[in-house]
Amino acid sequence: MSFVDRRRFLQSSLGTVGALALGGPLSADDAPAPGGAPSAPFDSLFLTWRQDPTTTMIIQWIGDADAPDKIAYAPLEGGVWRTAAVLAKPFTGTDQQVLRCELTGLKQGSEYKFSIGDAKPQYRFRTMPAKATDEFCFVSGGDAGTGSHAVSSNLVAAKQDPYFVLIGGDLAYDNGDSPKTFRRFLQNYSRTIVDSDGRLIPLVSCIGNHEVQGHFGGRRDQSPSYLSVFDC
Ligand SMILES: [Fe+2]
Repeated sequence: MSFVDRRRFLQSSLGTVGALALGGPLSADDAPAPGGAPSAPFDSLFLTWRQDPTTTMIIQWIGDADAPDKIAYAPLEGGVWRTAAVLAKPFTGTDQQVLRCELTGLKQGSEYKFSIGDAKPQYRFRTMPAKATDEFCFVSGGDAGTGSHAVSSNLVAAKQDPYFVLIGGDLAYDNGDSPKTFRRFLQNYSRTIVDSDGRLIPLVSCIGNHEVQGHFGGRRDQSPSYLSVFDC
């Protein structure tokens, strides 16, 4: 796919998603210290954005229809816990769901913790700094795949403690017809892309030809796995 076509495709893939922010207490005070990689049933969990990366965060994973319907989140160092709704939609071509929760109204350049439903583990992330002139690090790559080489690259990327990872196409090499391969990519990412403080590192991506059946000139329905997850 050409650069221009890829950019247009990405722009058009960002639609609408909502999450309901609700005030209220929570019951995660006895959870372990926040941080570290997710595990089953959240072993494909990752972060991304569709809006302002300084004040929002999307938490997303592939799971079953009976997955928790809310996420609790709070500033890392104290502050009010809030909850946000998890929305479910089909992970096309499977009986699984894409579970998505968008947090909004976050503080710029800040750290947060969150937990999913009644599960004990707490995870960590940070929002982007307030100013474009603030210094930050990110990692860029592409043509990833799911083998040992990809896992090794992930580990090197995570060691840089980046604010986010940018993958410019060809994530899983599912070629538009292997949801299992695409989920495996997410599982690898979730397990390995964690920074030295235990924070999850958001993934920003654009579609590549190996996300699409026939590779070039395809229709949207020929990229079922990638667009199930990234077509917000
Ligand atoms: Fe490629």
